[in-house]
Amino acid sequence: MPSLQINEVAPRDGLQIEAEFVPTADKIGLIDALSATGLARIEATSFVSPKAIPQLRDAAEVVTAIQRRPGVGITVLVPNVKGAERALACHVDEVNLVMSASESHGLANLRMTPTQSLEQFAAIVETVRAPPQGREVFINASLSTTFGCPFEGEVPEARVLDLVERQLALGVQGVSLCDTTGMANPAQVRRLCEAVLARFPETPFTLHFHNTRGMGLANALAAWQAGITRFDASLGGLGGCPYAPGATGNVCSEDLVHMFEAMGVSTGVDLDALLKVSATLPGLIGHDTPGQVAKAGKADRRYPMPAR
Ligand code: COA
Ligand code: ZN
Repeated sequence: MPSLQINEVAPRDGLQIEAEFVPTADKIGLIDALSATGLARIEATSFVSPKAIPQLRDAAEVVTAIQRRPGVGITVLVPNVKGAERALACHVDEVNLVMSASESHGLANLRMTPTQSLEQFAAIVETVRAPPQGREVFINASLSTTFGCPFEGEVPEARVLDLVERQLALGVQGVSLCDTTGMANPAQVRRLCEAVLARFPETPFTLHFHNTRGMGLANALAAWQAGITRFDASLGGLGGCPYAPGATGNVCSEDLVHMFEAMGVSTGVDLDALLKVSATLPGLIGHDTPGQVAKAGKADRRYPMPAR
């Protein structure tokens, strides 16, 4: 059992913000290649309004066609009951409900205040738990702007704790704390992670960082030092919310795996295999990616001595 679980979000957080629509067959190929690298989970797409995110309008086709490997959970983002119904029809392993900790980002992204989102959550949980689903679908919830909002600034820690408590009371099983626009710093991350783990010790928390201000890996390390063992990360460092001004890519999966493995923390991921998949990204999206290990090579790379 690896020490860390990595949830790969490039097919969702990464592709949702790309200017060009990535063809459905390429998305399926990307997810199938990722699911052979040892990742614990893959966030394959989102079942949101195709008007809001046209890049992922092929969600059902993608989820129905991908290979399902034992041990690799397939999760999808859903904002409302309609999204949950569409996701359940495709037999996902997990639904990742999404809401914002701040009112203005909630309205910009989902046209819902946090209170309205929680009302949707209650209805989603009812939908997911209603027969005839038969098998258990894990219910996770992502809390956007946990560490700061691009419209409102600071998000009080007490509000985050209160929203997590409300989510859990509705039947949510796991919570992802999301730094939507890279506003978090390691001291803040450590404080909040310690607070949530102390208050909700049974709940699996996942940390979702964007590297917008270069603090992504430092934040992941701070979270791990506080006791967090589940991380979202995105191949190549792609990603960003189109409804959060200034959003840029997630913490890069290869860089995260490289850092933790170099420290002796097992991730279960075959880094060489992951780097090979990362090398296919420019061909899929038509541009370079921000990932660093993919360019520099692993730290054990050795160069020939220059002749003099
Ligand atoms: N899947 C597909 N279509 C959906 C949908 C879903 N989950 N939810 C709503 N729709 C459709 C409705 O059927 C309706 O279609 P119509 O205009 O053809 O009748 C239309 O979208 C508007 O529905 P409504 O319920 O009024 O939604 P809204 O306009 O208030 O938007 C959301 C709310 C949540 C659907 C929308 O803001 C959204 O999808 N946001 C997601 C943004 C996102 O993914 N951001 C990045 C991830 S953090
Ligand atoms: Zn994100």
